[in-house]
Amino acid sequence: MINDNLWYKDAAFYQISVRAFKDSNSDGYGDLQGIKEKLDYLQTLGVDCLWLMPIYPSPLRDDGYDIADYRNIDPMYGTLDDFTSLINSAHARGIRIIMDLVLNHTSDEHPWFKASRSDKNSSFRDYYVWSETDQKYNGTRIIFVDTEKSNWTWDDKTEQYYWHRFYASQPDLNFDNPKVQEEMINIARFWLDLGVDGFRADAVPYLFEREGTNCENLPETHAYLKKLRAFMEANYPGRILLCEANQAPEDVRPYFGDGDEFHMGFHFPIMPRIYMALKKERADDMIEILRRTPPIPENCQWCTFLRNHDELTLEMVTPQERQWMWEQYAPEPRMRINLGIRRRLAPLLDNDQRKVELANSLLFTLPGSPIIYYGDEIGMGDNIELPDRNGVRTPMQWDDSPNGGFTAGAPCTELVKGELSYENINAASQLADKDSLLQSISRMINVRKEHHAFGSGSMEWVESTNPSLAVYKREYNGETLLIINNLTGKPQAAALPLEHQTEYVDLLSNAEVRIKTSLNLEPFAYLWLRQKI
Ligand code: GLC
Repeated sequence: MINDNLWYKDAAFYQISVRAFKDSNSDGYGDLQGIKEKLDYLQTLGVDCLWLMPIYPSPLRDDGYDIADYRNIDPMYGTLDDFTSLINSAHARGIRIIMDLVLNHTSDEHPWFKASRSDKNSSFRDYYVWSETDQKYNGTRIIFVDTEKSNWTWDDKTEQYYWHRFYASQPDLNFDNPKVQEEMINIARFWLDLGVDGFRADAVPYLFEREGTNCENLPETHAYLKKLRAFMEANYPGRILLCEANQAPEDVRPYFGDGDEFHMGFHFPIMPRIYMALKKERADDMIEILRRTPPIPENCQWCTFLRNHDELTLEMVTPQERQWMWEQYAPEPRMRINLGIRRRLAPLLDNDQRKVELANSLLFTLPGSPIIYYGDEIGMGDNIELPDRNGVRTPMQWDDSPNGGFTAGAPCTELVKGELSYENINAASQLADKDSLLQSISRMINVRKEHHAFGSGSMEWVESTNPSLAVYKREYNGETLLIINNLTGKPQAAALPLEHQTEYVDLLSNAEVRIKTSLNLEPFAYLWLRQKI
């Protein structure tokens, strides 16, 4: 499997906040050695590839997405040797590792920026975007609307403004400077040489700026990303680039190019529509967005998710839908941030295991390769008392020992409190319980692996007589899967078209299923059926 260059098309991914996952040396911070100790757990879960959030030295004003040194690891996470050792141990188990590559900006504490802002004549001045006026590129939206008033910040010393799409402490690099372009490719090389399997490329739509545009998804940006891909293809085939472009499907499509830009791209718009489907008890919004999603080249794949380390973003829905989602899922103002919701999966779904499983059933069976956010496989909670997006980045809940088994020291951040805290929700107790959420998710991942139809198959919605069901067919190489999800908390009955009234095997229970004229489903039931030949 490790030699198959299209591995990502069938893979299940798992996202880890290294700081919050497992502390091996009792300093209160999760670290690389801690992940290594948990590889057994990850292997049992069945995931194929880990995405590690930033581990670079950083002042942590944006949780490591503000990088101060691209060629090192913050000592709190370990050393470069620890990293290669983790990669080797993971590879030995057939698990790959990708990491964040933050191209768009650095920390204001990066030596390049320090030099750049020290003097207008510095040879690094041109590494960043400076201007006499803050009116340039004024067609550009602000992303962190709750904290930033402008994409420009005044620098007292050199009396110019510098450009930043995120926090003012994250100045944007100037990709019009060929040296910057080259630096970033060399940084990629550095980590690829250490053995990393690829990158989740952060915030890529914003690399270039051009007057008269919204400074997103520009042709120059695509041209540069193609160069990065060509470099990887030539030197590190089989390593991947995963695109973080929070954009409409038609605007993400170009990031796949002709199969010569990104291998994978997050499908941002489907995510909120899964939550809409669960609340409205109808599949329409999911159907509509997949209809709007253009086909992608054969060697590319979507990456789908229910939650991640950021807010549940509502940028890809209409203002009315956003308002509705806030009312439904974030009734208290403190649950909201920027254009989204700062809560975890289980609390969003009322801590109802049936709903969490159903959401995962959709995630695992719709087109794309799924990624699980650490802790969501056990339904752990969040801590909305913590600022920014930190409430969903709390320590992993391993067992019911002090601090949830995360650290033997003093934890670097508060844990989850209340109903969904480690005393009630933890990995150890769920490993021991065959009916737990963790066991169900693990079963889904492991079953999914055995059938290419999930990762590579065609997708076709099936009309049933009941709009509360999401029913679809996935087909690949002579295998036909019929997926049926009851989006409601009530028993449902439906009739399926004649061609689907036949014999199946339930992939999750191995039971034989015969669909006759009508089909009965338990509340929130999900069936993954393989048609018998
Ligand atoms: C991405 C990250 C987010 C970060 C931002 C700026 O959107 O997911 O956490 O704040 O980029 O780097």
